[in-house]
Amino acid sequence: MSAELRRKISSEMDLRRVVLESTRYSQEAGFDEAPSRMIATAVSELGRNILKYAGSGEFLLRHVKRPSGRGIEMQVSDHGPGINDTEQAMQDNFSSGGTLGLGLPGVKRLMDEFTLESSPGKGTRITARKWI
Ligand SMILES: Nc1ncnc2c1ncn2[C@@H]1O[C@H](COP(=O)(O)OP(=O)(O)OP(=O)(O)O)[C@@H](O)[C@H]1O
Ligand SMILES: [Mg+2]
Repeated sequence: MSAELRRKISSEMDLRRVVLESTRYSQEAGFDEAPSRMIATAVSELGRNILKYAGSGEFLLRHVKRPSGRGIEMQVSDHGPGINDTEQAMQDNFSSGGTLGLGLPGVKRLMDEFTLESSPGKGTRITARKWI
């Protein structure tokens, strides 16, 4: 099992590569095809938000353990404008960018654990886990 996957996301090309690498990482970690795709979709949505709202950011994928099993954790962070109202940002169909506004709530549904931390003016960090 490979160690952590740590990448900077600052372009479409970076994002595409990180999505592909995350899919492979999840499969190697033991996730079946369907959950691997869910993880890749989550990575894609969070990486897309970085490009759209912050310009660039950091991506980390790693293995995690708990007494009843193991899984993976992604941490996606940026030093962009942050989010003033995180409750609003988590609602279906809220978008400040004119798109569907389904990215963050979608990621929450696709993953087993989801935490959003944001300080306006400082940046945003999302941590999400999925268990095998
Ligand atoms: N990394 C971020 N930095 C700053 N604001 C963010 C970030 N990610 C999300 N947001 C804010 O949260 C809102 C909701 O994000 P979400 O991904 O759910 O929707 P969206 O990106 O607007 O639309 P979609 O993902 O469906 O194309 C965004 O419109 C934006 O205002
Ligand atoms: Mg989005």
